[in-house]
Amino acid sequence: MRDDVRTVRWAGDGLRLLDQTVLPGRVEHVVVRDVEALVDAIRRLVVRGAPALGVTGAFGVAVAMLQAEREGWDAAARDAAIARVREARPTAVNLAAGVDRCVPLVPKGLYAVLAEAQAVLDEDVRGNRAIGAFGADWITGRTPDRPLRILTHCNAGALATAGWGTALGVVRELHDRGRVEKVYADETRPLLQGSRLTAWELVRAGIPCLVQADGAAPGAILRGLVDVAVIGADRIAANGDTANKVGSVGVALACAAAGVPFVVAAPWSTVDLALASGDGIPIEERDTGEVLGWGGVRTAPDGAGAFNPAFDVTPARLVTALVTETGVLEVANGETPGGRAARP
Ligand code: MRU
Repeated sequence: MRDDVRTVRWAGDGLRLLDQTVLPGRVEHVVVRDVEALVDAIRRLVVRGAPALGVTGAFGVAVAMLQAEREGWDAAARDAAIARVREARPTAVNLAAGVDRCVPLVPKGLYAVLAEAQAVLDEDVRGNRAIGAFGADWITGRTPDRPLRILTHCNAGALATAGWGTALGVVRELHDRGRVEKVYADETRPLLQGSRLTAWELVRAGIPCLVQADGAAPGAILRGLVDVAVIGADRIAANGDTANKVGSVGVALACAAAGVPFVVAAPWSTVDLALASGDGIPIEERDTGEVLGWGGVRTAPDGAGAFNPAFDVTPARLVTALVTETGVLEVANGETPGGRAARP
């Protein structure tokens, strides 16, 4: 299986990002060496997906340190720049968590920060392998004994992480075990992470996939075409409420109505135990132009406004299982992240 995607890497004097805005047409990288460019890359989704944003935030501290040295900033200016990276996007808690892991090492110097950021990256890849194995074990124990028809929404693959993927890590592991018939990849309006990115990853991995409009997903589930839905997450509250790409709630509701397992696959770094419920999760609202037009051409009539939340929150009661790198919690049965004795 091909998993040679490298979303985020340190490049000696800057951060090398795979530019996800031009996939699948072109495979290009950009190297960002200043905070302005990094914040812009995060906001434009050059780099995206909660775990990849966590790694980016961690290395972003090093980017700010180098720029501060080059441009003669004082500590206050450097710290303000780090805060801008931390706040570049609000919903995925991993971005702030990645920054927060490296900030205490700033007084120790650049190499200490880079070592910690690399640890965040390495842990993510290791964790995704574990998520894949735990998720595949849980799913095979609860689904028909044949290759499965799996639905996923947005992109929670190698492109959204430091490698392998969370939801797609589970799919890759099931595929390695000969247990995937096909994957329904929701196209994921308005920025098409499903059709552009998930389908790209699945085709490269040799996993059969069907791109479908987001609006087709609930019907496919109710018609019995789907054995299990597996998605990623951007932030999970202590009670199991889960923020993920807008449209996830419709998938979860249809799964509940059809008795199909709705599985969330995410690392512990996506769990925010400080939030009792999903009510406290900040939901990013993006530019209205993303839904009022396409490819720079306006498609809605002049005078129409737009509501463009990038994420929605699936209530815990609809989350059959949460797969992390330490095992599986059956959230709908009352096993919540906050109910664990301690974060691993
Ligand atoms: O806006 P995006 O593309 O950053 O949204 C990404 C998602 O919603 C993913 O499903 C989530 O971050 C999990 S990635 C493993």
